[in-house]
Formats: sequence, structure tokens, C-alpha cells
Amino acid sequence: KGKRAFIAGVADDNGYGWAIAKSLAAAGAEILVGTWVPALNIFESSLRRGKFDESRILPDGSLMEITKVYPLDAVFDNPEDVPEDIKANKRYAGSSKWTVQEVAESVKEDFGSIDILLHSLANGPEVTKPLLETSRKGYLAAISASSYSYVSLLKHFLPILNPGGSSISLTYIASERIIPGYGGGMSSAKAALESDTKVLAFEAGRKRKIRVNTISAGPLRSRAAKAIGFIDMMIDYSLANAPLQKELSAEEVGNAAAFLASPLASAITGTVLYVDNGLNAMGVGV
Ligand code: NAI
Repeated sequence: KGKRAFIAGVADDNGYGWAIAKSLAAAGAEILVGTWVPALNIFESSLRRGKFDESRILPDGSLMEITKVYPLDAVFDNPEDVPEDIKANKRYAGSSKWTVQEVAESVKEDFGSIDILLHSLANGPEVTKPLLETSRKGYLAAISASSYSYVSLLKHFLPILNPGGSSISLTYIASERIIPGYGGGMSSAKAALESDTKVLAFEAGRKRKIRVNTISAGPLRSRAAKAIGFIDMMIDYSLANAPLQKELSAEEVGNAAAFLASPLASAITGTVLYVDNGLNAMGVGV
């Protein structure tokens, strides 16, 4: 029987989340997505109006179907966490049940269980500031949206993740090497995410036989990456210095995720898988 995947962090057809959805759909999985509440209307109307149809085409010529789009804000675990100003915000008031716990409950109600959980989201309000100029508030916001959001998602989806299932997040090498420009505590957030991948692999493995891995992806011109402001430079740097001198396509990351989610990876858990044309292995620029 086909597997069911929930992919958190899809709001257009440019990012890794979309590409992962396509690779999983091409491999026969049913696709559910979680879309950030403020981006929900435009994403759903674009989908409906056929704006993404070209990018929905799968290798066999059919169009990827997204069975359901759930509004999600992964910085809130349950309704009690939501502050008044967010509740009153009209972009949020127009949707309901978008905290992590409520989304997991809705998916359970609608489908019973899932096999694959994907975390493809990050946010750091001060990402353009060096760490030395980052405020406590900005740093904690980066950790909340980019690291704890994953702990929370896995925690709430674990009871409905079928044993043998797979959970995957996306990370970046700025966690372990100096990448000037990836600021605001985002490098710290990715370090936390990678460390948590190991601990969560142990806990979710023992508890429900779930594998937990993260993909350290090379640079992609996504909406989030454009907001950081140095993405073209990072793509050029990779082209000049990586062992494989080609632009990285989102599809290559999607295919790696499909591998990690498949039985082909049944003994792989707690790892950081580099999908970056090998750039991580270089010790010097050339
Ligand atoms: P993207 O813009 O396609 O994806 C980020 C998504 O996170 C967006 O859809 C945004 O709406 C969503 N989001 C932000 N805050 C949220 C919240 N509180 N609740 C729910 N959703 C929220 O950009 P991209 O680059 O594809 O990012 C996906 C993942 O890939 C991120 O973890 C990112 O750090 C990682 N990554 C990206 C690289 C790149 O060069 N683009 C390189 C390495 C890792």
C-alpha cells in the first residue's frame, strides 16, 4: 500500500519542501502539506488557479496531487500558547486549528496515520545580523521556529507515525563551519537541529521504530534563501569550489529525501546526509 507523507513548510513551488513533495509523490506517496498561516491564502489560490501546474508535472507526465493543505504555525504548540495579537491578526483569524498539536489531531482525524514526516521550514527574524549583533529575542525566535518546531512536530506526530516510518528535516552546513552572513542565531538553530536529530533518533527509534535523519542541503534560490541576501554568492561559491561543478537542483534534495524515507534506508537513522555536490568535504576554496 502507498505511504502517506506530511510535509511542513510548503508555501510555493520554489523551495525544498515542494521538491520533496514531488519526489515522494513520484515514488507513490500520498501528499499532505502544512503551510505557514500568513502564506496560506496565496498558496491555495495559486494552486487552485493552476499557477503551479507546470511545476506539478511528475516524471510519468501526471500532475502531483496534494490531498490536503493544512494551515500551520510551528512556533505555537497549542491554542494556549497563542498571544492575543496573533489571535486578533486577520490573517490568522481567517484559519483555525493551526497550532502543531491541532494539526496533528486534524491529520489523525482525517487520515488516521502517516508514514513520513518532513520538516522543511526555518525562520530567523534577524538572519541578516551577525551573531554579535543578534538580540536575545531574535536568537530565541530563530531557535523556536527552526529547531524546537521540529521537536514539537515529531512529538505530536509520533503517535500517528506508523512503525518503520521516517522523519526528515533540512539543515545547513553553517551549523558546523563559519558561513558569514547566516546570522541571527540561524547557525545556532541548525546546530541544535542536527544534535536533536541524534537524540530524537534514539527516542523515536526506541519508542516507535521511527528513523530520524536530516539533510544538509547546498544552496537553493528559495524564497527563504533570497531573504538572507547572499544566496547568489553561495551558489557561485559552490559552483567554483565543490567537487561536482553544477548547480544543485531542488529535485536532487527531493530524491535524497525519498531515499531516506524508503526501505532502502532502513538502517539509516541519526545521520546528517550531505546533498551539496560535495562542498562539505572541501577544506579550502580553489
Ligand atoms: P522556503 O521558503 O521554500 O521554505 C521555508 C518555509 O518555512 C516557507 O514555506 C515558510 O512559509 C515556512 N515557515 C516559516 N516560518 C514558519 C512557521 N512558524 N510555521 C510554519 N511554516 C513556517 O525555503 P527553503 O530554503 O526551501 O527552506 C526549507 C528548509 O531548507 C529550511 O529548513 C532551510 O533552512 C533549509 N535549507 C535551505 C537552503 C537553501 O539554500 N535554500 C540550504 C540548506 C538548508
